[in-house]
This record gives sequence, C-alpha cells and structure tokens, in this order.
Amino acid sequence: MSHLRAIPGTGDEPPRQPSRSGTATTVRVEAPGKVNLFLSCGAPGADGYHPLTTVFQAVRLIETVTARRQARDAHGAITLTLEEGPAVPTDERNLAVRAARLLAEATGVTEGVDLLLRKRVPVAGGMAGGSADAAAALLACNTLWGTGLEATELIELAARLGADVPFPLVGATALGQGRGDRLSPLMTRGTYQWVFALQNRGLSTPKVFRRFDELAAGRGAAPATEPVPERMTAALRAGDTAALAAALHNDLAPAALSLRPELARVIALAQDAGALRAIISGSGPTVAALVPDAATAQAVAQALDHSGACAGVLRADAPVAGARVVG
Ligand code: C5P
Repeated sequence: MSHLRAIPGTGDEPPRQPSRSGTATTVRVEAPGKVNLFLSCGAPGADGYHPLTTVFQAVRLIETVTARRQARDAHGAITLTLEEGPAVPTDERNLAVRAARLLAEATGVTEGVDLLLRKRVPVAGGMAGGSADAAAALLACNTLWGTGLEATELIELAARLGADVPFPLVGATALGQGRGDRLSPLMTRGTYQWVFALQNRGLSTPKVFRRFDELAAGRGAAPATEPVPERMTAALRAGDTAALAAALHNDLAPAALSLRPELARVIALAQDAGALRAIISGSGPTVAALVPDAATAQAVAQALDHSGACAGVLRADAPVAGARVVG
C-alpha cells in the first residue's frame, strides 16, 4: 500500500497520513557513486530527455548523509551542513535538501531535519555524487521520520529528483532504461578494480547531452539506443575483467571529448600505464580506468598523478551495495 501523498498533476492516490514510528535522534546513511559500464543514448523525446540503455556499477566511493532530529521549536526547516569534502551549495540547489523536502511533502511530514554531508564522489564528475546524496537523504529521513516508505516507493520519489537518483538506492550492478531510472539488477561475479582520474572543472550533464545532439545532427543521423551486448552481460556473469574491459562503451564520450579534448590524453595515459580500458564516466569529465589487479591500479594511479593531466586520482573497487543505514 502506498504512503505517498498525491503530487498535483500526477494522478496519484489521495493523501494518506503515514504512521509515525521514528524514535532515533540521528540516522547515518551511506550511498555509493557509480560508473556506467555501458551507455547507449537515443534522440531526445518531447520532454528533452534522452532514452538510455545503460549499465550502472556502484563503486566504493561513498557519500555519507547524517540526518539529525531537530528540537521541537525548530519550525520545520531543512538544513544542510558540509561535514567533509568539496564545497557544494547547501541550499535548495542541493539535491539532498530537495530529497528531504520531497519526502516530507509526499508523506505529510511537517518536522524539519538537519542534514550533515560527507562527500567522497567527485562533484559534477559524471559519477552521480549529487544523486547519491539525494538517495542517502531519502533513506535517512525515511528512517528518522518513521515515514515507513518501502524501497519501491523511495525509488519512485528518487526518479522524480533526477534520472540517476534511483540507482544509488539499489547499488550493485543494474541495467537502466528509460531515462536511466528504470532499473533491473544484473547478475555479476567477482570484484573489479577502478582508477578514477579527476578534473578541476566539472562538466554540465545537460551541456554534454546537447553536444551529443549537435554531433548527431552533424552526422545527419537519428541516434537510437542499442541493447546491452551479450558479451558484456556474459563478462559480468563470469567475472571476466578483460572481457568486460573490451565491452565497455559510452555514447556520450565523443560529446564529452568534444567539450574537453584534453581528456583523450588522460585516457591514453591510463591505458599506456596498464589499464585494460579507460573510458569517460557517464557525462564526464572523470575518466574511469578498469585495471586487472592492485599492482596495476597503483601504477596507473601513479602515472596519472605525475602526468599533470588530472586534478587528482581515486581508487575504488566495485560493485558495492546501495544506500544503507549504518548508524
Ligand atoms: O535527471 P537529471 O536532472 O539528473 O538530468 C539532468 C539533465 O540531463 C536533464 O535536464 C537533461 O538535460 C539531461 N538528461 C537527458 N537524458 C537523460 C538524463 C539526463 O537529456 N536520460
């Protein structure tokens, strides 16, 4: 049974008062960043969104959102404080704040919350860090407020916040369709090692999609989404890193490279240093290098670090679980 309140214009069920059972004063939630192992992009629909077929993998770069109960006289404000990590907006522009607000509106909660955010995923890097923050905030507030929404209901709210927000709730490895928000789990075996090359300046996702459209128009082609190739799902099922590397694909790469030509050198550096493949992560500009083992991860990280071609390097294994309460 749905606890979601009617959102005007969506044709939802009438409002329903949630049962309130939250007793904790603090709830901490961790949610992962992601890399797209496969991303095939079609021509935009009337709503401006592009149909996608994508494979997400959750990586061990973890965002942490702590939700704190407020004093009774706190007037229901939703506040956000940065605990650690790069400076990002802390007002309504922040997706975690919007997530808490949406959950409150959808369930009829009137109390506020103080959110604390620790960021590890690069900002505007094509790794859905902001989406992970929103996913974590949804789960943290659902637990703190005792609003009792089920996983499917949280996923439905997440999709209203952004195409990449449902995935960090689910984690592991999943096929994404529609805007990338219709998820189904994919069976995988083993652990994969990634090295991520960061850039100082992020890339705007809408800008990358617009460049994708311009490049397609220039070719006189109407792009269509391709299914995930069997060789990728087979590689994942077998835990075959080399076969997975060979199947990695990102339709947004030419657009990101056209906006940031210098990323081609980062990809070449990673591959020359021993990465099986290096690709643009999502809409970029982070470059994700899949490596066969820890020693190669070290060599690739060092080569990238010393090259001056990137602003920083992170290492992470994958896949990892989706958002979960940790305290
Ligand atoms: O859904 P989200 O707000 O994260 O998307 C940011 C922007 O990226 C959208 O406004 C749209 O311009 C673009 N986008 C798209 N097609 C998708 C996902 C995102 O065009 N499937």
